Amino acid sequence: MAIEIKEIQKFERIGAHSHIKGLGLDENLRALDVADGLVGQKKAREAAGVIVRMIKSGKMAGKGILIAGPPGTGKTAIAVAISKELGKDIPFVQVSASEFYSAEMKKTEALIQAMRKAIGVRIKERRFVLEGEVVGLDYNMVPNPYNPTQKIPESATLTLATKDEKRTFTVSGRLALQFLYQGIEVGDVIMIDKETGRIVKLGKSERAKKYDIGEETVEVPSGRIEKEKEFTYVVTLHDLDEANARRRGGLFSLFEPVSKEIDSEVREAVDEQVKRWVEEGRAELIPGVLFIDETHLMDIELFAFMNRAMESEMAPIIILASNRGFAKIRGTDIVSPHGIPLDLLDRLLIITTEPYSREEIKKIIEIRADESKIKLSEEALEMLTDLGEKNSLRYAVQLLAPAYELAKLRNSDKIEVEDVKKASELFVDVSQSSSYLKKWEEKMLAQ
Ligand SMILES: Nc1ncnc2c1ncn2[C@@H]1O[C@H](COP(=O)(O)OP(=O)(O)O)[C@@H](O)[C@H]1O
Ligand SMILES: [Mg+2]
Repeated sequence: MAIEIKEIQKFERIGAHSHIKGLGLDENLRALDVADGLVGQKKAREAAGVIVRMIKSGKMAGKGILIAGPPGTGKTAIAVAISKELGKDIPFVQVSASEFYSAEMKKTEALIQAMRKAIGVRIKERRFVLEGEVVGLDYNMVPNPYNPTQKIPESATLTLATKDEKRTFTVSGRLALQFLYQGIEVGDVIMIDKETGRIVKLGKSERAKKYDIGEETVEVPSGRIEKEKEFTYVVTLHDLDEANARRRGGLFSLFEPVSKEIDSEVREAVDEQVKRWVEEGRAELIPGVLFIDETHLMDIELFAFMNRAMESEMAPIIILASNRGFAKIRGTDIVSPHGIPLDLLDRLLIITTEPYSREEIKKIIEIRADESKIKLSEEALEMLTDLGEKNSLRYAVQLLAPAYELAKLRNSDKIEVEDVKKASELFVDVSQSSSYLKKWEEKMLAQ
């Protein structure tokens, strides 16, 4: 199976949560008052800490978590903190349930793709390579048959050396061209994959460094030039699905963006292949996390599909977030806690978040301002805290940026009360904007 080497990309909407570095727990998983950018919400943070341990020790398979709480109480913030705690080796995929509804694909397809992006496969591969310092490189240049004014290499003579061995090779024109493109020269330490001819420049040899500064230097390898090496890389099940679909040709062309639906046959083949790799000890599954924000936007079909998919041995851990109490399950008239079907709720561990105290709101605004390198006076901070208490934390946090622009218009780099006041007049919060439109609609109807 063809594999493209790709780093796992953590899909994160940092923006509003860039100040969060972790859950802020001590070694006994006790939440500190203020740590890692997080303030208060201690019970939820401690619960999240236990979840992180369970995920890392593989005890969360087939289970899910629901973070439930009023808007602006840090549900998304805690999910982001969980992803930070998991580290970069464990996939963490963040989506809003609204993203499942698109014109490009069926909603269940969008969901299964998101789930498969959240499962990593660590692949170990042994390959024969040539590795050493380039101590001689001579090109045999000939005129380009298509453009005789240009010269291209017909072949090259390459001498590689380790601390213990020195060998000279004749390399093909195709490979010689790669050397030229990559700017490989004497003094570089390189590795060539014998099978594919891929060349990797590892750095300048320490012996050569006195001639060239600024480049990374590496030790000259010892031992044989030709050796078998083990490589490890992590791809997601979705990467393998795409690679496999592309290889089959039918579905994708090389130039088409690959955001299309993938055949279930392709997925089954990938699953089988991966299982075989795992059995042979060549691969390891890394179940990651799929975080679905705004869960109330999922409908009964998506919930049913997800519930079934969670049974599979290749399912990620699901984290849901909801700010609904009792609500209709979308697509039905059934009222259920958080608008989530009971059979799914049965397999969820539930964490709740609570509204913040005035002091906590103030501290969060301070941390956000600090993160964005924004200065504000004590009175301005008090006023934003008032707005956070009366309207919402999110509103107060969002006003920081426009208030800062207004301060700059006054040629100041510090937000004062007048800037906050002006910003809050220019930008209303969502309850104000919706009640404004409601009044307007009533007026229109009365006419
Ligand atoms: N306990 C906390 N500590 C620090 N920042 C927080 C905390 N809770 C929320 N925030 C920040 O406040 C804003 C609103 O919180 P958010 O996580 O979006 O709430 P929710 O998802 O519950 O609606 C975000 O910028 C978030 O990063
Ligand atoms: Mg949220």
